[in-house]
Amino acid sequence: QKRLNTSSIRKMKGKARVVCLTAYTTPIAKLLDPHCDLLLVGDSVGMVLYGMETTVGVTLDMMAAHGRAVMRGVQHACVIVDLPFGSYQESKEQAFRSAVRLMQETGCDGVKLEGGEEMAETIEFLVARGIPVFGHVGLMPQLVNTSGGFRSLGHSDQEAEKIRRDAQAVAQAGAFAIVIEGTVEPLAREITASVSVPTIGIGASPACDGQVLVSDDMLGLFNDFKPKFVKRFAELGPLVSSAVESYAEDVRAGRFPAAEHTFQVRK
Ligand code: KIV
Ligand code: NA
Repeated sequence: QKRLNTSSIRKMKGKARVVCLTAYTTPIAKLLDPHCDLLLVGDSVGMVLYGMETTVGVTLDMMAAHGRAVMRGVQHACVIVDLPFGSYQESKEQAFRSAVRLMQETGCDGVKLEGGEEMAETIEFLVARGIPVFGHVGLMPQLVNTSGGFRSLGHSDQEAEKIRRDAQAVAQAGAFAIVIEGTVEPLAREITASVSVPTIGIGASPACDGQVLVSDDMLGLFNDFKPKFVKRFAELGPLVSSAVESYAEDVRAGRFPAAEHTFQVRK
């Protein structure tokens, strides 16, 4: 059976809600794959797995390595890899080279890049040359150093108008779907109604056509902070803590390893 591709995702608009989660490793990708339409190898990997404070330090090498790892675990979902900060903003040619690298080295179905009107030309260039692009508007974490941090957007008319124009430009340029991040509900609803491709929300209300979360957030594995838009569907953090506590106690008390974990000479 064939995996979903970006065209299958695009066709879900108006028919079925798109289920998306981030994945960075093979074992997690294997667990998520049967349940998800779309897996995103997000540059959030830098914060979630590498302890970085922002996504600005994430490199193309890191994205290629995690993209390969995820592809090894997937049989069903469509897989998109994030273009990291600095790998596409300089020119459409630079974006093309970076995207080709990710597509060829990982075997993923397409790339995601952050940006609105200023990236429309780049998106059009990529799509015309065979690279499916997942757009990303609203809160754009790669702009953290110039945009004043992580906060929800669309509260003022001016902010809303910019995001509206960004989403339209990205859709016009040929993106197969658009992430809307950290955006107030009425605006997310309006954008979703006005573009012909699925909007995938994160902190952007139920009005979007689909939903994405960072899997470590929804599993309770990443506990440094919990944004308002995250729901913990499991609390794996405390589960890991108590398992490790038991292990430490058993090792210190000489209870582990026991006889059944021990090799004896075969006769
Ligand atoms: O990097 C990421 O995980 C993302 C999603 C949260 C949309 O870009
Ligand atoms: Na990202």
